[in-house]
Amino acid sequence: MEQVVVNGSASQVVVDDTNSLQKKISAIRQAGPIKLQVIADFDATLTKYWIDGCRGQSSHNLLQQEDPEYNDKRQKLFDYYHPLEFDPAIPLDEKTKLMEEWWGKTHALLIEGGLTHNAIQNSVAKATIAFRDGVTELFELLEEKGVPVLIFSAGLADIIEEVLKQKVHRSFKNVRIVSNRMVFDENGHLQSFKGKTIHVLNKNEHALDMAEPLHDHCDDVNGLGDEKSALRKRTNVLLLGDHIGDLGMSDGLDYETRISVGFLNDRVENSLESYRKAFDILYLNDASMHGVVKLASHLC
Ligand code: TMP
Repeated sequence: MEQVVVNGSASQVVVDDTNSLQKKISAIRQAGPIKLQVIADFDATLTKYWIDGCRGQSSHNLLQQEDPEYNDKRQKLFDYYHPLEFDPAIPLDEKTKLMEEWWGKTHALLIEGGLTHNAIQNSVAKATIAFRDGVTELFELLEEKGVPVLIFSAGLADIIEEVLKQKVHRSFKNVRIVSNRMVFDENGHLQSFKGKTIHVLNKNEHALDMAEPLHDHCDDVNGLGDEKSALRKRTNVLLLGDHIGDLGMSDGLDYETRISVGFLNDRVENSLESYRKAFDILYLNDASMHGVVKLASHLC
């Protein structure tokens, strides 16, 4: 096992097994962009962990409902369930039930509080959220090469879409958001969510059945249509995540070669050993996306 640590000015990259990585790069490069898809987590993977010394917000916690009572209620749920999400003593089936319960209650509060699209726009405008430097270049490069990008999130699709609109100022025809999508009534209030709930434990290629094109507001929850079977033929994967659990995002895809890139943003000493073994490439300390852009340009 070989370890390479390259010091950058603000961040570091760790590769646990350079031989294995080189083989994977060659295999993906040889198969070409037609066989490649990119699967990325959203919060703290595409977005920065720190912004001007403050913790960047997630798609869930940036949301401010018109009636602040609902924000408090959602916060109380967070305080109760978030520790359970990371409790290693809870068996998976039990934890899945708890996560379904949490997401169900949160979504119900968003509906009960009559969330509007206007509140989403205002919340995003005021939020502490920013993409990592290089994310736009990465999407542009992959769009140019015709490589699809699936953004898997157990957060809220409408918010991620609004963040892309306000922070990137353009849409990408290759980018799909696979997340919980809202349905608004004729008065502009949140009425329901489309399809099955996507939570932290089912955020993977099976969730594609709930995906739809980024700017397509049709009622077809399977809006990806033929794209889904086309995606399943793209058996080489570049996966980006900030939790070891994000590696599960490619579950359900019978992939040939996968390069996993991890972002270990905080408390590096506690998780370095497990992260560097889990991911092919590991970026430390809230790194930019420039290294991934360089890698993607080698791959396709
Ligand atoms: P993800 O960003 O990795 O897809 O996971 C979504 C995160 O959202 C997960 O860590 C729990 C968090 N969350 C909230 O912050 N508030 C909520 O109301 C819910 C349901 C989840």
